[in-house]
Amino acid sequence: MMPHTHLAVALMTAMAFLSCLRSESWEPCVQVVPNISYQCMELNLYKVPDNIPTSTKILDLSFNHLNHLGSHSFSSFPELQVLDLSRCEIQMIDDNAYQGLNHLATLILTGNPIQSLALRAFSGIPSLQKLVAVETNLASLEDFPIGHLKTLKELNVAHNLIHSFKVPKYFSNLPNLEYLDLSNNKIQNIYHGDLQVLHQMPLLNLSLDLSLNPLDFIEPGAFKEIKLNKLTMRSNFNSIDAMKTCIQGLAGLKINRLVLGEFKNERNLESFDKSVMEGLCNLTIEQFRIANIREFPEDVTDSFNCLANVSMISLLSLYLDNLEAIPEDFRWQHLELVNCKFKRFPTLKLNSLKKFVFIHNTGMSTFVETELPNLQFLALKGNDLSFKGCCSHTDFGTTKLKYLDLSFNGIITMNSNFMGLEQLEHLDLQHSALKQANDFSIFLSLRNLHYLDISYTQTRIVFHGIFHGLVSLQTLKMAGNSFQNNLLPDIFTEVTNLTVLDLSKCQLERLSQRAFDPLTKLQVLNMSHNKLLSLDVLPYEPLRSLQILDCSFNRIVASKEQELQHLPRSLAFLNLTQNDFACVCEHQHFLQWLKDQRQLLVEAEQMVCTQPLDMQDMPVLSFRNATCQISKMTISVSVLTVLLVSVAGVLVYKFYFHLMLLAGCKKYGKGENTYDAFVIYSSQDEDWVRNELVKNLEEGVPPFQLCLHYRDFIPGVAIAANIIQEGFHKSRKVIVVVSQHFIQSRWCIFEYEIAQTWQFLSSRAGIIFIVLQKLEKSLLRQQVELYRLLSRNTYLEWEDTVLGRHIFWRRLRKALLEGKAWSPEGTEDAESSQHEATTST
Ligand SMILES: *[C@@H]1O[C@H](CO)[C@@H](O)[C@H](O)[C@H]1NC(C)=O
Ligand SMILES: *[C@@H]1O[C@H](CO)[C@@H](O)[C@H](O)[C@H]1NC(C)=O
Ligand SMILES: *[C@@H]1O[C@H](CO)[C@@H](O)[C@H](O)[C@H]1NC(C)=O
Ligand SMILES: *[C@@H]1O[C@H](CO)[C@@H](O)[C@H](O)[C@H]1NC(C)=O
Ligand SMILES: *[C@@H]1O[C@H](CO)[C@@H](O)[C@H](O)[C@H]1NC(C)=O
Ligand SMILES: *[C@@H]1O[C@H](CO)[C@@H](O)[C@H](O)[C@H]1NC(C)=O
Ligand SMILES: *[C@@H]1O[C@H](CO)[C@@H](O)[C@H](O)[C@H]1NC(C)=O
Repeated sequence: MMPHTHLAVALMTAMAFLSCLRSESWEPCVQVVPNISYQCMELNLYKVPDNIPTSTKILDLSFNHLNHLGSHSFSSFPELQVLDLSRCEIQMIDDNAYQGLNHLATLILTGNPIQSLALRAFSGIPSLQKLVAVETNLASLEDFPIGHLKTLKELNVAHNLIHSFKVPKYFSNLPNLEYLDLSNNKIQNIYHGDLQVLHQMPLLNLSLDLSLNPLDFIEPGAFKEIKLNKLTMRSNFNSIDAMKTCIQGLAGLKINRLVLGEFKNERNLESFDKSVMEGLCNLTIEQFRIANIREFPEDVTDSFNCLANVSMISLLSLYLDNLEAIPEDFRWQHLELVNCKFKRFPTLKLNSLKKFVFIHNTGMSTFVETELPNLQFLALKGNDLSFKGCCSHTDFGTTKLKYLDLSFNGIITMNSNFMGLEQLEHLDLQHSALKQANDFSIFLSLRNLHYLDISYTQTRIVFHGIFHGLVSLQTLKMAGNSFQNNLLPDIFTEVTNLTVLDLSKCQLERLSQRAFDPLTKLQVLNMSHNKLLSLDVLPYEPLRSLQILDCSFNRIVASKEQELQHLPRSLAFLNLTQNDFACVCEHQHFLQWLKDQRQLLVEAEQMVCTQPLDMQDMPVLSFRNATCQISKMTISVSVLTVLLVSVAGVLVYKFYFHLMLLAGCKKYGKGENTYDAFVIYSSQDEDWVRNELVKNLEEGVPPFQLCLHYRDFIPGVAIAANIIQEGFHKSRKVIVVVSQHFIQSRWCIFEYEIAQTWQFLSSRAGIIFIVLQKLEKSLLRQQVELYRLLSRNTYLEWEDTVLGRHIFWRRLRKALLEGKAWSPEGTEDAESSQHEATTST
């Protein structure tokens, strides 16, 4: 063949291959949940994709070019429950297009210019509950072939070309229909005959939306005896007369909720007068809402006369001057005033009112007392109100209040401690400026309060009794405030039921060691956005139920490594992101600990170093301690050499005499382990050591040989030399007698520190702690190292009872036997069960 032909063939093959590849890789549907949910939105699809699992339940095909849905279009997805075909340019839907979708519950056809809808288009979908056919060129409900969809609950045909409100006969076949959205259609008139079908279905619990239809006329009596759950008519009327006629036309309707008014951007009415509302007297209404009427009549009472018996009334974005004239005998239980304009705070007097929601209103500056004797729920959020004196029952005229929200207002001066409001369970004061919160225990009487939010209230907490009395409190939010000296003091002593505590953004630098001691039920603690410099773990130790600890956005460099094991065991999330970690060898134990706690840490990969410069922005977890070992070794070896040489020089020079004696000492004990144990104790405990320890151990069976400095140290030998020579090198074990005196005595600490070194050097030996009395934890904590060892290691507690002593000596003997050369006196039992010899914490 000619080379050209070769080339052409090769090219064609390549192109064929490439096009194959293209169609193969034509698999761009997003797998939302594997095998269950797929999104194929806007992918230029011309047909239903066939490379999606048949088990798919949710399929989004919106914004494609499907144009024509033939029969059985979706037969490969028999499990489908939700099918979204929005804006797929569908013009034709054939018979049985969805046949076989036995589980299909939701079908969305929004925005398709349907020209031909076959009579049996919706057959074979026996479970359909929700059909959305918004903007589908639908001209009439009567021709819509959905009469067999018995399970249908929701039908949305908004934004179509429907002129008639005639409810089709087939509705009697849809007993489950609850929601019919006919908004934004062309309905002008509603006649008596249109609702004939609804008269025959009295049980129907229908919510009907007729908003944005250009309603002119409703024939009086059309809705007579009809029961609806909800009727929405917003932006329906071009004139006040039309509105008046239509409302009169609703006479006889029994309705749970009626919604009138306009939309914010769709205002038609120029004026509004009370005669409009008069028609409402012929309706039975449970709940009423009206929105976005600018010119609301001055005479409010007259306007609402027909609504005197509704249980709930909601007024949104109205220009209301006042509501003072509302008669006391109105039966309103729930009043909502949102985004309205007032000249002054409405001083209501309403006996029936239980819930008053008054939020985001403008035009007033000061709260004025109200008289609402049955009020339980009061939300006064976001009104820029100031409260001259807060709070007591006289302010609201009720003692039944359970919920009070005064958040996002002006200045709230706290000068009475919620007297008469002891029922309060929820109190929200966030983002208002609290004044005089530190003068006394302002919440003292709120023993039922569960929830308190004083975040961002410009409160500087000085008074430690601020939260006294809040014994039931479960959630306390106090972010964005501050503390005296930036120290968190012990202010939670009485709030023992707390489960959530938010202390973020409080400029905290330090915590009192006992601040969280009472909070044993706390589950979430937010310390983020403070100024903590180290992860000081001890204060969190008492939080036995803590699950989430958020210390992100602080300045934590590292932690005192010896404390780290004190984090509560219940902890599941520890957030340490956005801190100033120092990735230096000095903190290698902390850094290693971070790696070990990886599963606990939130976004561990995002934690970066800020020091040293060459590690900046490197992940903390990438720090390698191996580098430390080398440098540490080199440094310590050289430092040690220098030190040893100089110390030896000085010693030889100074203690030549002692050295002579030391040499003599060696003769005293032959070989190692002359003693079973070296005892470190405070001289104040010497009585106990002589009368109990020595007696029981040295005179018991088998006898143990103890090294005690009061009798075994060679007189005249320098004391340090004695300790090292006699005490440690010649003893298998060290017994530390821990007591109050012991901790307070510097000398014992010194001995003890040497003992630790020695333990490190001699692997077979161990330290046995004997705790003589119950110790003050705070005192113990000062000796961090000792505290750490005590709580981590094994120790014996001395108990001066017959049984307690018996157990104590048995255990101590067993512990001492460990590693003792076998001797005929040692019982076999003791040898074999060495490990249970000590109690572990
Ligand atoms: C999806 O279905 C396929 C075939 O039925 C199966 O092999 C696979 O494990 C499934 N994947 C998941 C995540 O369930
Ligand atoms: C009517 O339906 C609404 C929801 O649309 C529901 O909240 C209400 O309980 C129902 N009422 C009756 C009597 O079934
Ligand atoms: C209430 O309906 C009756 C007739 O059903 C009518 O005479 C009366 O004017 C209506 N009242 C109002 C305030 O529309
Ligand atoms: C409200 O109820 C009272 C007592 O049942 C009744 O006298 C009054 O006419 C009712 N008002 C309206 C507007 O329905
Ligand atoms: C604390 O909470 C528990 C339930 O979490 C409750 O039983 C107990 O009564 C509460 N204590 C107080 C003083 O309210
Ligand atoms: C802690 O508070 C900060 C801001 O105040 C917030 O972003 C964060 O989500 C809170 N953490 C938790 C665990 O709620
Ligand atoms: C810290 O992590 C917790 C738990 O994942 C999260 O709730 C919290 O929002 C995080 N904190 C911040 C400030 O993002």
